[in-house]
Amino acid sequence: MTTTNETRPAEAAPKDTAGRTGKPVVELKGTGKSYGNIRALHGVDLAVHPGKVTCVLGDNGAGKSTLIKIISGLHQHTEGEFLVDGEPVRFSTPREALDKGIATVYQDLAVVPLMPVWRNFFLGSEMTKGPWPIRRLDIEKMKKTADEELRNMGIVLDDLEQPIGTLSGGQRQCVAIARAVYFGARVLILDEPTAALGVKQSGVVLKYIAAARDRGLGVIFITHNPHHAYMVGDHFSVLRLGTMELNASRDEVSLEELTNHMAGGTELAALKHELAQVRGVDVEDLPEEEDLTAPVATTGEAVS
Ligand SMILES: Nc1ncnc2c1ncn2[C@@H]1O[C@H](COP(=O)(O)OP(=O)(O)OP(=O)(O)O)[C@@H](O)[C@H]1O
Ligand SMILES: [Mg+2]
Repeated sequence: MTTTNETRPAEAAPKDTAGRTGKPVVELKGTGKSYGNIRALHGVDLAVHPGKVTCVLGDNGAGKSTLIKIISGLHQHTEGEFLVDGEPVRFSTPREALDKGIATVYQDLAVVPLMPVWRNFFLGSEMTKGPWPIRRLDIEKMKKTADEELRNMGIVLDDLEQPIGTLSGGQRQCVAIARAVYFGARVLILDEPTAALGVKQSGVVLKYIAAARDRGLGVIFITHNPHHAYMVGDHFSVLRLGTMELNASRDEVSLEELTNHMAGGTELAALKHELAQVRGVDVEDLPEEEDLTAPVATTGEAVS
């Protein structure tokens, strides 16, 4: 008899009941976090719905990582409420968040560069066959499943035997997204997945964010880039110095407004003034504020 150690929860996850009732899977109400005397986050409201992309934007130090650390179980909030499926929760470890279907893809992905793509796909949750004590890895099944799952997400790689380290950063992000979808994530948190990527690769990652959304996952997309956010986002939250400066749905905010919130028009004006004091910089030659945030082009087919 063959036994298979497959940790994937039955097909179920994306078709979460929360989707049908319209209730958020994850919700923050007036949530905050202090590290000793430092108040990193304060009064944050956020709702993550199945099949929607919630973008969290903010400058360096705004509190984005702190926010996702609370949701992903790395840190605990010190103020307000954190609800999953309407129930208050307080995770002690990332494992507890994962058990609730909350998966996080970090920018420096935890992959083993020299191992093949399929091996990384199953890293830590390998499929096995045969009874104990002669249980061994079910290599054929893992290869076949990884191939199917990547194709299901529209990701076509030439060879799953190639070391994952030979893939581009964008492709690795896509494999990580497909992996989270396969292992039954209901909420997918992406920490600046496009930050280190070029224009074309960013487009590819955005396409798979849209694919995860279409599979019914609630996506939390952390980014500095309002253009990337606006391409896939349904809801936008802008953090500034730990508080929520903007909390708006797509029909309440234009790309231009979002860009202005991110760029901080007055700060740019001050910067221009400062640069004018520096010898050799002719302030008249500097672009106008809106030019400094010129749109980042992405491939047309990048987002559905
Ligand atoms: N472990 C910690 N101990 C003390 N202060 C911290 C800790 N982590 C973050 N902070 C502080 O909390 C604030 C928010 O930091 P956070 O890392 O959440 O910002 P961020 O928006 O992710 O920034 P970045 O874009 O640079 O990643 C910062 O002032 C930071 O110094
Ligand atoms: Mg951060």
